[in-house]
Amino acid sequence: MTDWLANDVAVVTGGASGNGRAISLTMAEHGADVVVADLQPDPREGGTPTHEKIQQEFNQRAEYVECNVARIDDLQDAMSAAEEFGGVSIMINNAGITQSDEFLETTEEDFDRIMDINVKGVFFGAQAAAQSMIDNGRSGSIVNMSSVTSFIGRGDGVRYTTSKGAVEAMTRALADRLGQEGIRVNSIHPSMIKTSMTDEDLDLLDNESEEEHRQKTPLRRIGQPQDVADTVLYLASPLASFINGEALTVDGGVTTTMGGGY
Ligand SMILES: NC(=O)c1ccc[n+]([C@@H]2O[C@H](COP(=O)([O-])OP(=O)(O)OC[C@H]3O[C@@H](n4cnc5c(N)ncnc54)[C@H](O)[C@@H]3O)[C@@H](O)[C@H]2O)c1
Repeated sequence: MTDWLANDVAVVTGGASGNGRAISLTMAEHGADVVVADLQPDPREGGTPTHEKIQQEFNQRAEYVECNVARIDDLQDAMSAAEEFGGVSIMINNAGITQSDEFLETTEEDFDRIMDINVKGVFFGAQAAAQSMIDNGRSGSIVNMSSVTSFIGRGDGVRYTTSKGAVEAMTRALADRLGQEGIRVNSIHPSMIKTSMTDEDLDLLDNESEEEHRQKTPLRRIGQPQDVADTVLYLASPLASFINGEALTVDGGVTTTMGGGY
């Protein structure tokens, strides 16, 4: 535990579950007040809602806001909640969905759904947070959730890969636009992380495939939400005060050593 984020207010989209939950808890552990912006407050993996756990364990201010990141008004509601704590200074655009897909069968509706959440949600989340930071005269940090799929093609997830590549490119453009406002913007790119998304939505982590992924990863383990949270903590903290426009992998070395063989 440090006081790195003692003067910060973090908004974490998709903060109820998985990576977002670990990020929210870690922000609070290091001194931030936190707004959890999610479709629902209950962790997909079970347990106490994130905002309540923050209040109980870290004695930080925390609130849950019902928010669909595909809706700009909902993102504004999250910013308004952060105003109650002094205004957002850390924006974590984490919410996202995935689906395995067959490219040749993808419909316009399928495409729009993933883009609305994974791309539009990040774009307008960054916009709402940046406007609030500028209005409050605060410098800040925005961290956008991409994926290793922005670097390596996966034929069974063309839609998802397209959305995460857009987040990577958007982040670089935002780093250029917002740097002059004192706002740093970076993206993180996890490989397989053990969450409900990989366990349930994709069913990728049964015993056999989990062992297979482990063997393909140089560090010989599956990533955990805390690995993601610690990376976000670094990027949001003063330790990263000259890091802007970076695309940081959190993947145990799988992308750079195996050319996407995971
Ligand atoms: N798990 C992985 O292997 C992995 C790898 C790379 C990147 N990611 C990214 O990490 C992020 C979080 O994934 P996760 O594994 O924690 O998933 P998860 O399904 O465990 O949790 C996602 C959370 O986001 C919320 N959410 C979904 N749609 C939303 C919306 N429209 N508005 C607001 N909240 C919404 C859900 O309610 C849930 O609480 C996603 O952007 C995902 O693409 C995950």
